[in-house]
Amino acid sequence: MKVGIIGSGGREHAICYNLKKSKKVSKIFCFPGNAGTSEIAENIDINLEKFENLREFILENKIELIIIGPEKFLVEGLVDYLEKFNIKVFGPNKKAAQLEGSKIFTKQLCEKFNIPTAKFGVFENINSAKEFIKSSNFPIVIKADNLASGKGVYICNNYNEGITAIDEIFNGKFGDAKNLLIEEFLNGEEMSFFTVHDGNNFKCFGTAQDHKRVLEGDKGKNTGGMGAYSPSRLINKDLEKKIIDKIIKPTLSGLAEIGTSYKGFLYTGLMIIDNEPYLIEYNVRMGDPECQTILPRLLSDLNEIFISCCEENLDEIEIEWSNEKSLCIVICSKGYPDRFEKNVEISNINKIKLNKNEFLFHAGTSKKSKKIFSTGGRVLNFTTLSKSFSLARETIIKNIIKLNWNGGFYRKDIGHKVVK
Ligand code: AMP
Ligand code: GLY
Repeated sequence: MKVGIIGSGGREHAICYNLKKSKKVSKIFCFPGNAGTSEIAENIDINLEKFENLREFILENKIELIIIGPEKFLVEGLVDYLEKFNIKVFGPNKKAAQLEGSKIFTKQLCEKFNIPTAKFGVFENINSAKEFIKSSNFPIVIKADNLASGKGVYICNNYNEGITAIDEIFNGKFGDAKNLLIEEFLNGEEMSFFTVHDGNNFKCFGTAQDHKRVLEGDKGKNTGGMGAYSPSRLINKDLEKKIIDKIIKPTLSGLAEIGTSYKGFLYTGLMIIDNEPYLIEYNVRMGDPECQTILPRLLSDLNEIFISCCEENLDEIEIEWSNEKSLCIVICSKGYPDRFEKNVEISNINKIKLNKNEFLFHAGTSKKSKKIFSTGGRVLNFTTLSKSFSLARETIIKNIIKLNWNGGFYRKDIGHKVVK
């Protein structure tokens, strides 16, 4: 069958790579994809802002399954749109995608269903928010209530930082944020917990630990993610049961109450404090770089998983995983997450020879007359599976040294909590 993947990041290249292994998949289209996906799929550059362009292409080319990588299209209702035309699509509908699209929607759901999360308040105007923080205990967390690619969150250590955050959010730094949230600061260790859903049933889909800060030692600005390892060092059976019973199941009940259900990947962002989970946020998709870290451990056929979710029979299949450890390091353009140069050639990339358990997933890259250029902030992802996290990291760093790309930088300390 022919499948289509929406997106252009490392997550989408990893999905594409896995689907390519499936016996049932005859051809893959990526909308728009990157230089990496162009090696194994056909990249299609159409304007996705107009959903009808995509629908026409899907119908003309007889694509039987669409997988949506990034949240933007899910929050805008691309699933609802395609399903109206009987196109099979893996991802949550617009109502369910509010779990990521509106932090306030999720917080209210937490309140109603007693889901453990940070205490919070919603503020609709600058003055009431500023008044509130006069009597707050710091640190506090201030968040814009809209999609801000992980950047609309401020951890404020004092009153002045709080004022800056409130001003920036209400002055439109993250687009049109009508509300902001002020939250209690949770002091624990983060974990990303993934599940895959078919509307009725769900299954666990691995855990990972992302590294969001740009500098070694978890310092500097927040980014989309500089690297990850899987499984998380925090996961155990008892914690998994608590996450499912206290967080995921009540969330699904909440969606049922508003007349919908969940299909697709669900990314539960957690703070773990003394083996107790607290919900920080939901994302209605796989994580990036968590996807590039987790998928190499998957032994089952990914296409079969997607199809079973679309056909509501996920309970009939087994999802199998390798026991090996996985670690991923992201190479970014120098300057990221601030200004960076684009279209810098990555000249040694063809010299990288990967062994069986080594993977190179592209993110912001493009190909022009056989040469590869950087086009984004996050450019390449090296993942390695190994019996230990430290061996995985050593192998990756050797490959990065071989790449010797002047235009980029990376964190050498990914996995510092699991590598001695
Ligand atoms: P979010 O976009 O909500 O995931 O927030 C981005 C990052 O900010 C998270 O990954 C955490 O590192 C941090 N964060 C968000 N909310 C809190 C909180 N209530 N307490 C502590 N850290 C937080
Ligand atoms: N790695 C964080 C995210 O995908 O949102």
